[in-house]
Amino acid sequence: MKEFEFNNPTKLIFGKGKLDALRNEIPKYGTKVLLVYGGGSIKRSGLYDNVLSILKEIAVEVTELSGVEPNPRLTTVHKGVDLCKTNGIELILAVGGGSVLDCAKAIAVGAKYDGDMWDFLERKAAPKAALPLGTVLTMAATGSEMNGGSVITNEVTKEKMGWGSPFAYPAFSILDPVHTFSLPKDQTVYGMVDIMSHVLEHYFHPENNTQVQDGFCETILRTVIETAPKLIEDLENYELRATVMYCGTMALNGVLNMGMSGDWATHNIEHAVSAVYDIPHGGGLSILFPNWMKYNQSVDVARFKRLAVNVFNIDPTGKSDEEVGAEGIEALRHFWSSIGAPSRLADYDIDASEIEVMADKAMRFGPFGNFRKLNKDDVMEIYKMSL
Ligand code: NZQ
Ligand code: ZN
Repeated sequence: MKEFEFNNPTKLIFGKGKLDALRNEIPKYGTKVLLVYGGGSIKRSGLYDNVLSILKEIAVEVTELSGVEPNPRLTTVHKGVDLCKTNGIELILAVGGGSVLDCAKAIAVGAKYDGDMWDFLERKAAPKAALPLGTVLTMAATGSEMNGGSVITNEVTKEKMGWGSPFAYPAFSILDPVHTFSLPKDQTVYGMVDIMSHVLEHYFHPENNTQVQDGFCETILRTVIETAPKLIEDLENYELRATVMYCGTMALNGVLNMGMSGDWATHNIEHAVSAVYDIPHGGGLSILFPNWMKYNQSVDVARFKRLAVNVFNIDPTGKSDEEVGAEGIEALRHFWSSIGAPSRLADYDIDASEIEVMADKAMRFGPFGNFRKLNKDDVMEIYKMSL
């Protein structure tokens, strides 16, 4: 276990009917609110009306930014920053999935910065302040509701990059599983793949003496595996939605990975794919992660065996450690396929033509991955395995 500091300032407000907490939370920050949301799902579900009626009751002056794209774009961030600066916004309220939350985080730091917030993604500058941010989550996936990370796409240069800052944590996040009832089956699956992928990114780390952390990771993986098949048949089941929502937050709020640095190469490799082809993040991960695993199994055979036995119940009797680990990787592939997640880039009509372009994008900041450093040839090989 490495030395670490842990500080997560987000107030989490979880459960049925918790939207009401807006009445107490918002007045702490001011009366001028920028309401940020996506392409219309919150209008169709009725959540938009409920939020607005609360904001009206507490006499908040609302400015709106709608139409945040899945894989949120820099131009939309710029629009939001302008709205904050011209309207004297005091709090940003993001209502939606990870893309809406990530866009709102970028607006929050951009509103307190004189230059272009893209500087933060290019590592030319670091945020020094942000507007406060509250969130109402409608999709269990990214963990953005309780972390300081965000991923933004520059549609002009076709770059998709992550950034993070202690200033980007939401001040509060409201998680009512009922708000995820309307999420369609495919997005529900992508969300669960993303959650499992975050746990797997933590799990493949180079540290020793991490029994508790590894055990936490395995518990979340087993829980999602047990819950997913039931949930996709019963999308409005409160308990199942609540379980997955809790898993999503815990998977990427810093609790699982105290004292260890996960790999995160697969996320980088996926972001380069969705930068070029604008595919859903969870869909990309389900194609790439098993191939990253195959490519790297020899780095730590025992860890892959442990995953196979503890998470996928593979019987190790009479098999080599390599065989057991390989069966675990196959079990993951089989599980994701069984719930309807894609397994090949061809599922998104992606062929080999842009492999080098994607590899160059993934290499933007040089070799990456903490479990094993990958260079451009490694990344190209993983893309080829995924065709
Ligand atoms: O735009 P609307 O109309 O709201 O529709 C969205 C969108 O089309 C829809 N949706 C969300 N909640 C819904 C709903 N539809 C019906 N009912 C609901 N309750 O679902 C679609 C996908 O939404 P999106 O927010 O894009 O999905 P997700 O939460 O998976 O976010 C993906 C983005 O987050 C980034 C990804 O790269 C991607 O850009 N990530 C952010 C991370 C972070 N901040 O920590 C970490 C992740 O690894 C990830 O990279
Ligand atoms: Zn992810």
